Amino acid sequence: MDPHKYRPSSAFNTSFWTTNSGAPVWNNNSSLTVGSRGPILLEDYHLVEKLANFDRERIPERVVHARGASAKGFFEVTHDISQLTCADFLRAPGVQTPVIVRFSTVIHERGSPETLRDPRGFAVKFYTREGNFDLVGNNFPVFFVRDGMKFPDMVHALKPNPKSHIQENWRIVDFFSHHPESLHMFTFLFDDIGIPQDYRHMEGSGVNTYTLINKAGKVHYVKFHWKPTCGVKNLLEEEAIRVGGSNHSHATQDLYDSIAAGNYPEWKLFIQIIDPDHEDKFDFDPLDVTKTWPEDILPLMPVGRLVLNRNIDNFFAENEQLAFCPSIVVPGVFYSDDKLLQTRIFSYSDTQRHRLGPNYLQLPPNAPKCAHHNNHHEGFMNFMHRDEEINYFPSRYDPVRHAERYPIPTAMLTGKREKTIIEKENNFKQPGERYRSWTPDRQERFICRWVDALSDPRMRSAASGFHTGLRPTNLWVRN
Ligand code: HEM
Repeated sequence: MDPHKYRPSSAFNTSFWTTNSGAPVWNNNSSLTVGSRGPILLEDYHLVEKLANFDRERIPERVVHARGASAKGFFEVTHDISQLTCADFLRAPGVQTPVIVRFSTVIHERGSPETLRDPRGFAVKFYTREGNFDLVGNNFPVFFVRDGMKFPDMVHALKPNPKSHIQENWRIVDFFSHHPESLHMFTFLFDDIGIPQDYRHMEGSGVNTYTLINKAGKVHYVKFHWKPTCGVKNLLEEEAIRVGGSNHSHATQDLYDSIAAGNYPEWKLFIQIIDPDHEDKFDFDPLDVTKTWPEDILPLMPVGRLVLNRNIDNFFAENEQLAFCPSIVVPGVFYSDDKLLQTRIFSYSDTQRHRLGPNYLQLPPNAPKCAHHNNHHEGFMNFMHRDEEINYFPSRYDPVRHAERYPIPTAMLTGKREKTIIEKENNFKQPGERYRSWTPDRQERFICRWVDALSDPRMRSAASGFHTGLRPTNLWVRN
């Protein structure tokens, strides 16, 4: 059986046109009219249905990451990490799990160019035997802000001006100047790697800190990293203008064409781990998403490989209706207290219920490939046919029981309620080290991109409060 197919499509198995309800259509060229010149009769149900379907073809685009490309393949374990996790799909070398992956840009619309300076999404859905695991990452290993409270404002500042619908640097610099923790992310975004050449030649990262738990309940913090086997390649400004000017879908095309030609993109998966008993020994907070974990003291450990060997059959079904949620994990993998991850746990399934409806997990690319069962039923667009009388729990008539217990983190949580910042902010050390590790020409290009952003004429007016009507504030006062 094809593991990617949930149900066979029934849409194309007649040799002639039909209406949606299956009635034969004998003329798909002309509307039903009074005489040859019209008017058109409202009773032309086929025409009305055709137009009504067309009128509703678009669904809301993703509020971020609207522009994306997906492909299918498999993940294969190459190294045994069963001492760290009881995750079934990581149980032994050689185990393969089907996956669907969606790469994306972040800020602009569904049809926007793929050559803009912007982080790239790298979202992997593993269809494991114990349910789906969504590793929803980006191409950079850190993020702009560390508290999800700031995410909507951050996205508003990065998105086009609500008045002109143009992305404007003065709004971006204005917002981030209040957030020194974002500097590290800018050492990636404004670096040469700020515009990946395509989706095949970029790294990926889970970015947030997750937790691995083994059978005995021992917990490790973990970060996930994808490294492309064909290396990392980027576009400098001039090349990006040239590539984007001739094909605004160049990265989608590169992915599609490579797979069609049998040149399958591949990434190696690595992890870094920290024993929570040692989390205080660093000069940064390991759960702070604006920090990397230094590889010299926390080495990359190989885990497996990801191979994309199948193109999607239908962009709408397997890209637009594809839905990822960092909350979707499997036994053996859990969240951490990383504040940004905690916010994401809520936000994604919330947006999917809005964008795709309450039964979005029944859609073929989102549904688990393993058997599943519960009493969450009905609602809009529910197409699960159930022939059951017991839709409550517990029941002496229903043989379904709780699953076997699996370990979850048991660490004691203490503290008083607070709305505050973390203790070890350490905002500048890692960005400074990264900048100093570059060659002078790379530093120069980085500075030029800042000069460009800061040269926005509205920056000067903001400094005096003129035009914008905003009062200049002390940029580094935080609470
Ligand atoms: C609190 C912070 C964040 C919030 C509230 C948030 C929210 C969202 C929302 C609402 C979507 C649209 C989902 C959809 O409609 O399908 C999205 C997409 C996405 N986000 Fe985030 N996000 C946050 C941080 C991050 C971070 C840190 C990463 C990287 C690790 C990330 C990676 C992605 C990716 C890859 C997608 C696209 C998934 C796809 O391909 O369908 N986001 N995010």
